[in-house]
Amino acid sequence: MPPPLLCPSLLAGDHANLAGSVRLVEEVRLTWLHLDIMDGHFVPNLSFGPQTLAALRPHTQLFFDTHLMLDEPHRYIEPFAKAGANLISIHIEPAFDHAGTLARIRSLGCQCGIVLNPGTPADAILPVLDRVDLVLVMTVQPGFGGQPFRRDVLPKLQQIADWRRERRLGFRLEVDGGIDLATAAECRAAGADTFVAGTSFFRAPDRSKFVAEFARLG
Ligand code: DX5
Ligand code: ZN
Repeated sequence: MPPPLLCPSLLAGDHANLAGSVRLVEEVRLTWLHLDIMDGHFVPNLSFGPQTLAALRPHTQLFFDTHLMLDEPHRYIEPFAKAGANLISIHIEPAFDHAGTLARIRSLGCQCGIVLNPGTPADAILPVLDRVDLVLVMTVQPGFGGQPFRRDVLPKLQQIADWRRERRLGFRLEVDGGIDLATAAECRAAGADTFVAGTSFFRAPDRSKFVAEFARLG
């Protein structure tokens, strides 16, 4: 299993000073940043859009892990790719051409990911499993930061990790929602390698210590 990768979610950063929040991630020598994009339809909240990514892009080399919580993500792939996204993830739940959209993400030079909500069964993503760089298993119902971790998702995470091993696939397995040191350890045991952390990272009293402790998950 690859070493655990901690990926702070900018949603929990300072929205009046997003560039400053990006610097906090760089200061502790992390390399990925999670960007939560919400449309007020697929999830009952709004966040930011491609213009914000484009504005941040000149400030940082961080890998932009872009999570589209949109009913019609296929309409927004080009703007996010152009704005500097490195990886674009789309949800499996809304009805659109998932395979075609993943291919388009790739054709624009980005990595691609598929996302499942807590209530979505693992086999929903089977048709696209061999064509993604990342599978994101939501460990809360998406829409808001700061929610409690959903332990009932762990068997599904384990199932997807098993498929990855059995089918010799190379996608990253990411978890998102309610991740702290304790819940990250549970997800690590189930096979996760990439850990989105909003509240636990940005509210940590000592972020360097948090990152060092996280690295010990091994
Ligand atoms: C939830 C988002 C998450 C969120 C996680 O809709 O997808 O990325 O920022 O926040 P925490 O880590 O606070 O649960
Ligand atoms: Zn997210």
